[in-house]
Amino acid sequence: MINCRICNTNIEQFMSFGKMPIANGFLTSDQIQNEYFFELAPAFCSNCGMFQLIEQPDPQKMFHENYAFFSSTSSYMQIHFKNFAEFVMKGFLENRQDPFVVELGSNDGIMLHNFKKAGFRHLGIEPSVNVANVARSEGIETLSEFFNLELADQIVERHGQADSVLCANVICHIPDLNSIAKGIKCLLKTDGVLIFEEPYLGDMVMKTSYDQIYDEHVFIFSATSVSRAFANHGLELIDVFPQKTHGGSMRYILTPIGTRSVSHNVGELMQKEQKQGLHKIETYDQFRQKCETSRKNLKELLENLKQKGQRVVGYGATSKSTTVNNYCGIGPEHVEFISDTTPVKQGKLTPGMHIPVKPYELFTNNPPDYALLFAWNHATEIFAKEKSFKAGGGKWITFVPQVKVIE
Ligand code: SAH
Ligand code: TMP
Ligand code: ZN
Repeated sequence: MINCRICNTNIEQFMSFGKMPIANGFLTSDQIQNEYFFELAPAFCSNCGMFQLIEQPDPQKMFHENYAFFSSTSSYMQIHFKNFAEFVMKGFLENRQDPFVVELGSNDGIMLHNFKKAGFRHLGIEPSVNVANVARSEGIETLSEFFNLELADQIVERHGQADSVLCANVICHIPDLNSIAKGIKCLLKTDGVLIFEEPYLGDMVMKTSYDQIYDEHVFIFSATSVSRAFANHGLELIDVFPQKTHGGSMRYILTPIGTRSVSHNVGELMQKEQKQGLHKIETYDQFRQKCETSRKNLKELLENLKQKGQRVVGYGATSKSTTVNNYCGIGPEHVEFISDTTPVKQGKLTPGMHIPVKPYELFTNNPPDYALLFAWNHATEIFAKEKSFKAGGGKWITFVPQVKVIE
């Protein structure tokens, strides 16, 4: 029994994915001995509606000078963030005097470079120094620190308050949400706006995309849980926009309470969440059963292919794949290697199961019989790029929403 990270109510885990390593902790063979593991177990708080991890490794273990996730590796995400930036500029920053934009978790500058190009005052907060340095080399103002209440005060002192605070796939990474919300409230102008987007609980439950659950994602949000958590700190959820990114995300717009009217989208989405049963603990029991079925089916399929002597290669050494491989027990005996375009992942082993990660060229030069699509959230981009793999007789294996071979 632990206390909810938001409202302090007693909560219990509804399942465990077992011992898990750091999802982005790609390693060399001499590092295997000291590999760090923790128990990956989610819980749901029926008092405030927050889906959360019982245990999360220290932030410094996940975000540091060797962080392996570079946002700009996906060209689809580059376009997404260009559109995101335009949405903010047109919808919230027009007619403002010299507006100031702060982004938390700005990574390699994938979003902020659009603001820099358009001449906006901006500041990125990015604790992982290696990715922050990529942004800096492009002239994007970046502070390499963990955002918290204290840092918010310092930013206000140095730069003044922000017209807009932006975040993507980062608020759900930070365990002390109450302190972050306080910090954002004090960083924002009274007529400012907080906009963030994160993987959406409704999609995860609907698609059984349990691979969204890994160390970094200490929360999986819904409109209901976001609205409640931020209302405690004077911020009101005024609009929501579903996104296709990362397998189904939600963009949340929040402003200081009472400063803007609330869109009907908010109430409608909350009703939809009730209908889907996102507030009920039974929903998560069913989710657990679906995870177990998915694990069984994927493991059986891979065992079967192994016995038939078929070559299976993984596509995309995603952070999500760490949960899949460790939970299902998929190792080098099932998957020969995982192809990935990120240079710092290549030549390393995957966390926990130690499948080799190899450059993309090894996939194209010697195509396998089957490609296991770990980067299923980038399927559209990947299928468009890999027409020749399929034309040459290659088959895709996917596991979201169900384990399936795409002939
Ligand atoms: N926004 C980018 C990156 C998401 S990955 C995108 O959507 O592609 C999450 C990023 O948040 C990492 O680069 C990590 O270093 C950063 N991060 C983690 N904790 C943070 C904190 N407390 N404050 C600011 N950034 C943080
Ligand atoms: P993500 O799901 O967290 O965005 O990570 C995607 C990973 O997949 C990242 O390591 C890059 C890799 N990748 C490829 O190797 N080829 C591709 O075509 C795409 C889109 C991603
Ligand atoms: Zn709670």
